[in-house]
Amino acid sequence: MIQTSKLIAGNWKMNGLGASLAEVAALRAALAEAAPTCRVALCPPATLVERMARAAGDGVEIGGQDCRAETHGAFTGDISAAMLKDAGATLVILGHSERRQGHGETDALVASKAEAALAAGLAPIICVGETLEQREAGRAVEVVRSQIMASLPLALAGRDFAVAYEPVWAIGTGLTPTLEQIEEVHRAVRAAMIERLGLGVAATPILYGGSVKPDNAREILAVPEVGGALVGGASLKAADFLGIIRGAQ
Ligand code: G3P
Repeated sequence: MIQTSKLIAGNWKMNGLGASLAEVAALRAALAEAAPTCRVALCPPATLVERMARAAGDGVEIGGQDCRAETHGAFTGDISAAMLKDAGATLVILGHSERRQGHGETDALVASKAEAALAAGLAPIICVGETLEQREAGRAVEVVRSQIMASLPLALAGRDFAVAYEPVWAIGTGLTPTLEQIEEVHRAVRAAMIERLGLGVAATPILYGGSVKPDNAREILAVPEVGGALVGGASLKAADFLGIIRGAQ
């Protein structure tokens, strides 16, 4: 993911059945016509990865939403990075706040998962972001910096990956930080990435995520250091997702 064009990635979370592939077909057709200059990815539930990779064609990359740090073994219900790759994924979201909070994932575990993803040939999208309480205590930059330093393994240097800044309080709420707040945190993320991994990550995309919609995408994507978007609810419908993709042009 070392690039200058933006990356617009959709996170379907636990949404989508076979019938949802109609949205992917609609997206594929629209992208073929629009020929966007940005990169587009969709991360469906694991059950849809293989079918979606077939339905999406070349214009849309497919990713997983999580993977196990181990390569195989007695881990009932879990999925490995190699399994995602085998199903057609090229990337994987790691350390989403819904995993950090709902599944107790630590920075160290996220870093191990990122190493596993790299070993399997997947590009990790590593999520960081502060809670409302941390933001109100004036600790947003400090929290995000600490997550970057501990969640990004040194093995990422020179590899394809992205970081997604997702303030927890902006996810699914319709609330977004001001453009100045987004810029402040993205600059801090860049500085921490460089401190951790060196100047080779100066162009690695930093995505913004949290209530990105067609009507706010363009202004958010124009903020310095915003290299794309990680989109939840508005990625489920092709028309909404396309509206966001257009904002990246
Ligand atoms: O990973 C994307 C996400 O957490 C943002 O969700 O629904 O606020 O766009 P949403």
